[in-house]
Amino acid sequence: MNVSGKTKVCAVIGDPIEHSLSPAIQNAAFQHLGLDYAYVAFTVRKEDLKNAILGVRGLGLYGLNVTMPHKIAVIQYLDQLDETARNFGSVNTILNKNGRLVGYTTDGIGLLNALNYNGVDPYGKKIAILGAGGASRSVSFALAREAKELVILNRTLEKAENLVNDLAVVSGKKAKLEAKRLCDEEIEKELKNTDILINTSSVGMHPNETETPVSPDFLDARMVVFDLVYEPLETTLLREARKIGAKTIDGLTMLVHQGAASFEIWTDKKAPIEVMMKVATEKLKNKKAQA
Ligand code: ATR
Repeated sequence: MNVSGKTKVCAVIGDPIEHSLSPAIQNAAFQHLGLDYAYVAFTVRKEDLKNAILGVRGLGLYGLNVTMPHKIAVIQYLDQLDETARNFGSVNTILNKNGRLVGYTTDGIGLLNALNYNGVDPYGKKIAILGAGGASRSVSFALAREAKELVILNRTLEKAENLVNDLAVVSGKKAKLEAKRLCDEEIEKELKNTDILINTSSVGMHPNETETPVSPDFLDARMVVFDLVYEPLETTLLREARKIGAKTIDGLTMLVHQGAASFEIWTDKKAPIEVMMKVATEKLKNKKAQA
């Protein structure tokens, strides 16, 4: 990396952050295009967020990615939000426009681009989303205007219902929206005519790799199955879906497309997706080998 006095510095802030794949992915992309940018990671605890953002202003950092636990709290320290960040109520990307900090969220566009990259068009489809936490919120907001039918299945029904109420506002009532409890009976009923199944829950995530949110009996070869979990890269859900011939999309594809959208906000250049995917996959493999 050629760091100069003019290098534009970007960073990710979060806690924990040491294992983030973003520095490797973003620096590879900057280098590939010969851009004078560098990307680092800072551990920022909840109580230090305000000082961290003052630091961004003081040091003139060019761009930020914001991750857990700051995606909502950071909003109060910014000067402006783009429309999507305002709708989602969360920020994962900041651009420092000559001292004005502008917040964006690339979670939604990352999801839509990851689908598109895999040749999947969500328009007019029935989509089932598992989970009703922060990740589900981003995914369902992005899909609410596309889907014909959107069902959110969650262990805690009330959270799914609250999310559906919020979604009704953005969807313009075009999509049929439903909230269901995440249990075999509802899964069986809902998945019968589902085109795209997206797991946003943490079920199946390391160290609980053998778990799956959906029994393979309810999967179907004509479904697209997308798991946002990327550790392991192939979750039990994805493995079982692949075995019966369903199209699968892994969580790393989503992570890279979110990052690519941030990269494009900072650089105004098309992100080199293939380079970013390759680095992300290698890093994840090395991490596994070291574990
Ligand atoms: P994120 O920001 O990644 O979405 P989150 O907001 O903590 O994280 O949400 C985690 C989601 O995974 C929730 O939908 C949670 O269900 P509850 O709302 O009922 O807590 C879901 N989840 C976590 N562990 C689960 C489990 N063992 N079975 C089913 N759902 C689970």
